[in-house]
Amino acid sequence: MYSLSLFVLLAVASRTLAQSQPFGQCGGQGWTGLTTCTDSWVCVFQNAYYSQCLQVAVSTTTAPTSTGTTSTIKTTTSSTGTASTTSATVTGFPASAPTTPPSNLVGKTPALGWNSWNAYGCNINEAKVLAAASQFGSLGLQAAGYQYINIDDCWPLTTRNSTTKQIVPDPTKFPNGISGVATQVHALGLKLGIYSDAGSATCAGFPGSLGFESIDAATFNAWGVDYLKYDNCNIPANWSDSALPQNGDWYNSNSAIRYRQMTAALAAQARPVQFSLCLWGNYEVWDWGARVGHSWRLSGDSTPTWSYITSIISTAVSHISNDTFGAHGDMDMMEIGNGNLTIQEQRTHFAAWIMLKSPILLGTDLSLLNSTQLAIITNKELLAFHQDLTVGPPAAPFTPFASAPVTSPLEYYSGKSAKGTHVFIINTSATAATKTFTFSAVPGLGTSGTFSVHDMWAGVDLAGTYAASASFSVTVAPHDTVAYFINVL
Ligand SMILES: *[C@@H]1O[C@H](CO)[C@@H](O)[C@H](O)[C@H]1NC(C)=O
Ligand SMILES: *[C@@H]1O[C@H](CO)[C@@H](O)[C@H](O)[C@H]1NC(C)=O
Ligand SMILES: *[C@@H]1O[C@H](CO)[C@@H](O)[C@H](O)[C@H]1NC(C)=O
Ligand SMILES: *[C@@H]1O[C@H](CO)[C@@H](O)[C@H](O)[C@H]1NC(C)=O
Ligand SMILES: *[C@@H]1O[C@H](CO)[C@@H](O)[C@H](O)[C@H]1NC(C)=O
Ligand SMILES: *[C@@H]1O[C@H](CO)[C@@H](O)[C@H](O)[C@H]1NC(C)=O
Repeated sequence: MYSLSLFVLLAVASRTLAQSQPFGQCGGQGWTGLTTCTDSWVCVFQNAYYSQCLQVAVSTTTAPTSTGTTSTIKTTTSSTGTASTTSATVTGFPASAPTTPPSNLVGKTPALGWNSWNAYGCNINEAKVLAAASQFGSLGLQAAGYQYINIDDCWPLTTRNSTTKQIVPDPTKFPNGISGVATQVHALGLKLGIYSDAGSATCAGFPGSLGFESIDAATFNAWGVDYLKYDNCNIPANWSDSALPQNGDWYNSNSAIRYRQMTAALAAQARPVQFSLCLWGNYEVWDWGARVGHSWRLSGDSTPTWSYITSIISTAVSHISNDTFGAHGDMDMMEIGNGNLTIQEQRTHFAAWIMLKSPILLGTDLSLLNSTQLAIITNKELLAFHQDLTVGPPAAPFTPFASAPVTSPLEYYSGKSAKGTHVFIINTSATAATKTFTFSAVPGLGTSGTFSVHDMWAGVDLAGTYAASASFSVTVAPHDTVAYFINVL
């Protein structure tokens, strides 16, 4: 046995800056969010991709000695507060790692639901979860297609049952257990999701499922769990991977195998479970995610900021070729209702998750949403595009007219549904410019024919008919997104 120390990055104290919430992400490669923690919490380096706000000043994990495996762990630290790099070269993977695919009974279209984390963090309980389930009915979310009520981290006690080795729901938070919540959620016609971690502990320090996959999958099945978000904190050293591809095949990396073990354990249960891989966009997960789960996170945690929305759109766009039925790049939970996003930015947030076919898990106290926000997240036509059962791939960028300016993220997207062709336009530019596209430039519309434009947000046909060579122009509010269906006349 040996110990692997985690390195503590003390945050630069600044009372004027917003600070990351307890157990929130505060750093890592590609991270654009907050890098300091609230008082008495410190930003702790976990790996090159993830630093996290923890309460402990110094944390130590013990990694089991590897058997049948050759491990070389190299660690470098930096005194400047930049993330340290831990690289590990591991050879000799478990010979018989399972190759069971995820269930094809669930997860064909991206999940629609709610998750407790962005609203409540660790401060969750049965009442809050059941309130969200009840609001799915009263606010029209269930009628719009929202199904999953997902409990995130911090639901159990910190130790497993010493006899059965099962994870034990915290009785003060969940007096009727998770099965009691599931029964009530199912009675409403909804589905229940739970959270665990492919390591020795969850990000908030509760029991992880690595090495306990069969017990936990059986327990979740017995409780009536329909969805599992599977996180990537607290990985024992002998299970880690180098930041570089191993023979270019990340499906056979230790990281993928940690997830494959849970896929197989879930498949051995009666109840189909939608399996959400949360490896924060590492290990080329888009190349192997569909063989292991139904969706894979593309980045670190979301934040309610325009910079997060624009950066994750660009990330998602670069991997859309891997998205189709049962295979969804996950742009992370919705922030509508949180922070200071303008209503136009909230509309773009929703439209982008829709057109790129990310899972949409609402992440706020639903009782605080106003009627404008509810209208956005229950928009029938946008949700129909997202849940379309005939076309799997998401919308993709197109060039709207010859020599159109290139922006970041890209502004013009088109996609197919059972109905036909759709166009989405985001206004990201800092200069006032009317958004324009030529009909013949939209993939699939062709160079002849006559078209009209239907506004999906408003559910109305716009005036005017257009030849293929004609252009359509619209003034888009700052950071807003328009969504159109193109009628072929
Ligand atoms: C890491 O060590 C544990 C405990 O010995 C073992 O069960 C597991 O297979 C090892 N993982 C790898 C990838 O070798
Ligand atoms: C562990 O599980 C067993 C069997 O369900 C139960 O009888 C026992 O009370 C549990 N122990 C604890 C400490 O919860
Ligand atoms: C993912 O997309 C890349 C780039 O288009 C492609 O090379 C790769 O084969 C795709 N993998 C899967 C599993 O779709
Ligand atoms: C929202 O704005 C307020 C006031 O400017 C600020 O204190 C707060 O940190 C902002 N919230 C986020 C999430 O950016
Ligand atoms: C709802 O809140 C947004 C800000 O998040 C605001 O722009 C909008 O006007 C509000 N709608 C109503 C009906 O109050
Ligand atoms: C688009 O948004 C930008 C703000 O980023 C704004 O300056 C511009 O006027 C908007 N363009 C149009 C056509 O509304």
